Amino acid sequence: MIKKAIAVMTSGGDAPGMNAAARAVVRTALHEGVDVYGIHNGYKGMIGDDIEQLNSRSVSDLIQRGGTFLGTARSKEFKTPEGRKKGFENLQKRGIEGLVIIGGDGSLTGGSLMSKEFGIPIVGLPGTIDNDVWGTDYTIGADTAANTIVEAINKLRDTASAHRRIMIVEVMGHKSGWLAMTTGIAGGAEYVLVPEVKFDLDDMCHELKDAYERGKRYSIIVVAEGACDAIGLGTVVEEKTGIDTRVSVLGHIQRGGSPTVEDRMKASMLGEKAALAIISGVTNVVFGFDAGKVVSINLFEAVNNKKTLDPELVRLARMLA
Ligand code: F6P
Repeated sequence: MIKKAIAVMTSGGDAPGMNAAARAVVRTALHEGVDVYGIHNGYKGMIGDDIEQLNSRSVSDLIQRGGTFLGTARSKEFKTPEGRKKGFENLQKRGIEGLVIIGGDGSLTGGSLMSKEFGIPIVGLPGTIDNDVWGTDYTIGADTAANTIVEAINKLRDTASAHRRIMIVEVMGHKSGWLAMTTGIAGGAEYVLVPEVKFDLDDMCHELKDAYERGKRYSIIVVAEGACDAIGLGTVVEEKTGIDTRVSVLGHIQRGGSPTVEDRMKASMLGEKAALAIISGVTNVVFGFDAGKVVSINLFEAVNNKKTLDPELVRLARMLA
């Protein structure tokens, strides 16, 4: 049971809705009579003692904003035991008794190490546009990013159709194809290339050529960044098909923007849950969603398992292409 203070931080790649989650953590803890500290710039700020006490007003005018008001970073130093010790001491000296971490796989792994090494209570919230945290079918920010991508695909369709082109769209996801698969289906793509599934380039080019010869006006190929080099793919596809091909790399546009209603709602629900849980003495859990309901996942299981791409999505993308 926590009596005095908790801290909240965002870590790794930012994701729309992180603000809504942190806001919910802060307001819930204050409502429960517990002080809240905000750690700036993730583990980097924890090590550098960039920590400030927050009040209810610190989190006003935030629910609609993308990014994270706390700042975020990827820290190499925190991967060392010395770095983690430094970070922990900065929490200890303020009387911080528990930590809520909002971030992806790597960030939650950092929390699991702190828990093991120092016994500090940790509650994690999955925050990443990649939707690749094990045990939850939802991560904060993935819905907003998916909507941003689909909006871009809609626009690319117009110009692809006007010129009878093949349009290749590269989306984020080094190891995870969730964003590509979901937006490929929602954007009506002909092909979706993801790191988890092998694809046959010759077959794809052959089918494309054939379809254009039969009158097809344009095609959309969504490529996860980890599947292959999209620019190189564009050159090869154009060579093999003889069809005018263009490549759009969406890049960090996908990470920004005002969170969708889904991200605001779910992040708020998770933030409240995280604060109540940690204050009541719960530790080593990640809160996520399963079939629309908040679920609690063991932190160590979450970081030691790899989420796989739902084969149903792969099947559906193929079926509807
Ligand atoms: O993990 C989230 C993510 O957006 C990945 O999809 C992407 O590969 C990576 O972060 C990019 O990281 P950075 O902003 O550090 O280049």
